[in-house]
Amino acid sequence: MSDGRVKVTVGVCGGIAAYKSVELVRLLQDAGYDPHVVMTKAAEEFVRPLTFAAISGHKVITSLWGEEAGAVSDDDESSIEHGIEHIWEAQTTKLLIVAPATADMLAKFAHGLADDFLSTMFLATTAPVIVAPAMNVNMWEHPATRANVETLRGRGVKVIEPGSGYLACGMVGGGRLAEPPAIAAVVAETLTGVVAKGYVSLAENNAVPSAAMEPDFAGETVLVTAGGTREAIDPVRFIGNRSSGRMGYAVAEAAQRRGARVILVSAPTGLQEPPGVEVVQVVSADEMRSAVMKRLREATIVVMAAAVSDYRVRSVAAQKIKREAARAVILELEATEDILREVVAQRVVGTIVIGFAAETEDALANGRAKLAGKGVDAVVVNDVSVEGIGFDAEQNAGSFLTRGGAVELPVLSKAKMADRILDEVAKLRG
Ligand SMILES: Cc1cc2nc3c(=O)[nH]c(=O)nc-3n(C[C@H](O)[C@H](O)[C@H](O)COP(=O)(O)O)c2cc1C
Repeated sequence: MSDGRVKVTVGVCGGIAAYKSVELVRLLQDAGYDPHVVMTKAAEEFVRPLTFAAISGHKVITSLWGEEAGAVSDDDESSIEHGIEHIWEAQTTKLLIVAPATADMLAKFAHGLADDFLSTMFLATTAPVIVAPAMNVNMWEHPATRANVETLRGRGVKVIEPGSGYLACGMVGGGRLAEPPAIAAVVAETLTGVVAKGYVSLAENNAVPSAAMEPDFAGETVLVTAGGTREAIDPVRFIGNRSSGRMGYAVAEAAQRRGARVILVSAPTGLQEPPGVEVVQVVSADEMRSAVMKRLREATIVVMAAAVSDYRVRSVAAQKIKREAARAVILELEATEDILREVVAQRVVGTIVIGFAAETEDALANGRAKLAGKGVDAVVVNDVSVEGIGFDAEQNAGSFLTRGGAVELPVLSKAKMADRILDEVAKLRG
């Protein structure tokens, strides 16, 4: 019998990360959802169904066949589908999250195979589907897996990109399951359209504006830059800036929430990678330039929110510069490449490019000059000399400048500001 909670089906596949789904189920319980677990045969090699049954309070589905299957006991349904468990599960769930999703299951989903409960249910459900892949880096990067992931994305399946780091197989690279709180947050966002307060979130406070709940960026690929680049002086020192990266991350999160595929090129920030966003970590202006130019052709919208160093040290010391070596050290700086200008020059026709201008004086005039000089479609300008907004602050304020005029952006959390900026970008897209 339904107790009024929203039913979420958690599919667990046969990978080392299957144990992390135990935490995911607990988080979904804590958040007030009613998680039901479906395990593949391979998943049972890693975690016992009893563990999930104890946490979810429901029988765990492990097979299409036999005694384990078909035991649908809710007494408020009498249709024939009621007795066919995978159809029942597919029709009654409000969302299917598969974590970890193996390479095998992604292939089955992409090709429409239906030889076990989970793959059969996937075909039978009309509920939103999210997959959180986890696997060895070579499996993840294999063209077959890449193609399967793209096929699923193209069919509206939300993909929570795996992270990078040490993998259970001993290798280092992409393929590590996103953390359970991040996965739970994407589930909550998908179900409600509202950032799940208390989970990840960079979107600190807010119920997001109602416009943000519509997937009005579906079909767009948004390339966002964020953070402050670092230019090495010697192996231990660098020239940096005060950008926290929060604004760019908020734009990436908002665009992802509004249905876009998002690539976030991030200079060092210390922020948690937003779930569902592909993050490319870089350090220097030069690395940022390479990463942006490499991915530019995929983008339909580019939002350049990073604070990129205008200068780099001409000659980086090979060893740490010692205090005793000299009374004074003179660093010769040379200009870095202008990434924004290069992006404008090389963009695919129709790609919208938004620049950011952090100014300490004459913000509007300088913003207008940047708009005209760089050939971007719009500039978000803010006066970072004002206390409490801009760099390293929780809030922001400024103006969205286009050739047609200026829209004032009042003091808002960066999450809300991100949605306001995207509202304006959507108008540009027309
Ligand atoms: C020790 C071990 C660890 C594995 N880890 C993973 C993994 O992390 N990701 C993955 O895609 N496959 C992994 N596999 C392979 C899958 O278990 C295998 O492809 C299986 O058929 C997947 O079945 P399923 O998709 O029905 O769960 C692993 C296999 C073994 C033996």
